[in-house]
Amino acid sequence: MEKIYSVFFILLVGTLFVNLQISNAKKTHRSAIPPIFIFGDSTADVGTNSFLPTSKIRADFPHNGIDFPNANPTGRFSNGYNSADFLSKLMGHRRSPQPYLYFLKTGLNNKMFRGVDFASGASGLLDVTGKDLNIVSMSEQIKQFGSVCSIMAYLKGQDVAKNVLKKSMIAISVGSNDIFGYFESRSTVNPAVFINSLMTAYESHINALYNLGARKFGIISVAPIGCCPSQRIHNATGGCLEIENTFAQAFYSSLDALLKKLSCELSGMKYALGNSYEMTINVINNPQLFSK
Ligand SMILES: *[C@@H]1O[C@H](CO)[C@@H](O)[C@H](O)[C@H]1NC(C)=O
Repeated sequence: MEKIYSVFFILLVGTLFVNLQISNAKKTHRSAIPPIFIFGDSTADVGTNSFLPTSKIRADFPHNGIDFPNANPTGRFSNGYNSADFLSKLMGHRRSPQPYLYFLKTGLNNKMFRGVDFASGASGLLDVTGKDLNIVSMSEQIKQFGSVCSIMAYLKGQDVAKNVLKKSMIAISVGSNDIFGYFESRSTVNPAVFINSLMTAYESHINALYNLGARKFGIISVAPIGCCPSQRIHNATGGCLEIENTFAQAFYSSLDALLKKLSCELSGMKYALGNSYEMTINVINNPQLFSK
C-alpha cells in the first residue's frame, strides 16, 4: 500500500513540482544554497529503508526508479525523483541529499553540511505507526538528526553549526501512514481525538527539532489518501474513500492552527505549509488541466 500510495503521490504532486521547477530555472552559487534536512515517510525517503536489512518496506528493485537517471532503483518509492528531490532541486540542489544511513555506512563527512535525508517509508508521526515493519520512526529520525548536529558542532564548532542550522530548510512530509493505521486497526477512537493525538505528536517533533537549532520549516500535509488505488477498492463504485479524504482535510486544518500557534511560541521560527490535499485533488478532479 505504501508503494502504491507513493507512486500516486509522485505522479500527481510530482507533476506540480516539475511545472514549478521549469519556471524557477535560475541558478544559485553552491555556497548560497541553504542546506536541507528532510524527515518523513515514503513520500520523502531516498533510500533509507534499503539500508535496513530487516525492513519489510523497501523499493530497491525494478520497476521503482524506471524513470530515474540510468533507470536506477535507488530505494525511492517512485518511478523517478520524489518530492524530497523536487524540493531540493527548487532550492538549487542537484537532488535530495543522501540518506543518513548512507552517511553512516560510508563515513560522516563535510557533505552533511549541505543536508541529510532521514525519511523512512511506512513511518508516521506516532511511534506505533510502522513499528513491526522495521523502519525508522519520526522520533528515531530526530535522534539521528541530533547526532548530525553534534558531529557538525564537533567538526566546525558550535557557532558555525548553529548558523548552518539556522539557515537550513527542515522539510517534513508525514501523516498518511498514521491515518492508514487508524483505519486498518479499525480504531474506535473518536476521529477528532485521533487527529488531536497526531497534532500532539507533531508538536513534540517540531519542538525537538527547534531545540536542536532548526528554525525554518517546510511542511507538507497529507494528500487525498482515500484516492489511492489501494483504498478505492473499498468503494463499490471505484471512487475515492471519502472518509479518509475527510481525515486528510482535518489533518491540514489542525496542522495549520498548530503551526500558527507554534510560530508565536518559538522565537525565530519560520514555516510554510504546503496543502498537498488541495494540490492533488485538483489534479484528480481536473486531469485535463494538467496534461502536457
Ligand atoms: C465512493 O465514491 C463515490 C464517487 O464515485 C462517492 O460519491 C462515495 O461517497 C464514495 N463512497 C465512500 C464509502 O466513500
